[in-house]
Amino acid sequence: MNDSTTTLPASPKLSPFYVELRPSQTVLWCSCGLSARQPYCDGSHRGTGFEPLRYTAGPEGEEVLLCACKRTCTPPHCDGSHNALAGVYGVDDPDSESNRRVVWTPPTDDGRARVNGGCFVCSVDRQPFNSVGTLSWARVITADHGARHQSQFCLDFAPGVSPVMAFGDCEVALMAVNGSGTIDIAGRCFEFEAPLGIHVRPGEAFRIDNRSPDTMRVFASVGASLTEPLWPAQLGDDFDAGAPLRLAPVDAAQRVAMAERFFQMLVDKRHGSQRLTQFIGEIPRSKALPHRHLYEESLIVLAGQGVMWTETLKAPVNAGDVIFLPRKQLHSLECTSDTPMLVVGVIYPGDNPAINYYD
Ligand code: FES
Repeated sequence: MNDSTTTLPASPKLSPFYVELRPSQTVLWCSCGLSARQPYCDGSHRGTGFEPLRYTAGPEGEEVLLCACKRTCTPPHCDGSHNALAGVYGVDDPDSESNRRVVWTPPTDDGRARVNGGCFVCSVDRQPFNSVGTLSWARVITADHGARHQSQFCLDFAPGVSPVMAFGDCEVALMAVNGSGTIDIAGRCFEFEAPLGIHVRPGEAFRIDNRSPDTMRVFASVGASLTEPLWPAQLGDDFDAGAPLRLAPVDAAQRVAMAERFFQMLVDKRHGSQRLTQFIGEIPRSKALPHRHLYEESLIVLAGQGVMWTETLKAPVNAGDVIFLPRKQLHSLECTSDTPMLVVGVIYPGDNPAINYYD
């Protein structure tokens, strides 16, 4: 792209351009950062050593985030590199004039605080739980709650061996919050200790042997809009040996910084999960600038307290809650506790939780 080893491109903007491309539309993405027609080339690169990049949308058309900082490693798409640039991940003043106009969401009797655009904060322990053998389970995020791309269930495993369960032909990311035991996935057994993520491949059934004395809580995030788990009679022996890595332990040594925040990838492509991605993030006392994502997101709050902000409504967030965010919804999660907020995020479809935009 650039034949100079010393010259960096200009950065006309420090977050990506959101663009809707027509079916099979071809564009020339500006890589030098000098074009006046951002994000497209206007010929200003001549003599700089940079060359524009030709990109053609798919036959259905595409919504894309084209890099504006010109530091992406996946041109022309944003890869989140802009977050590492000075001053990008700015903080917002929760007491600013515009934020003072944002009001608390009205109380509801179903344990879900609804803010703007279909976003909500779910008090998991206030949801109705169903029983199957030693397992109690509740719907946290389903199509009935407005989700289009992912669903999430809270699974409480009593000590002992659980019933066999499955989620059909979907990618699954489990988050074990507490306890220890074994998980048998389609005939292959793994020993584990929480907290950790666990990947279950499409078509596989599983069961958990909770060997701790207390109830073990596990969140199951599914890359499809389901309303209920399946309960097969048999575990089966069709473990997908092509993807042997299934456990994703939480490990502070693997954290990467994003400004003041930290995150660690859990279940992702390394485990064979192509479009469902799980991560754990730590948010210090602060309010991020309101932003959007192109993926649907759920956030399991493991620790800390805060506020979920949208355009005109905000809702309290406590440890144990789950937040649901539709695609493109403007939002900002504020941590208000002295100790950092700890959240487990699941995005779908997507493989990079660092990609955000501000348009
Ligand atoms: S705008 Fe350049 S990497 Fe995101």
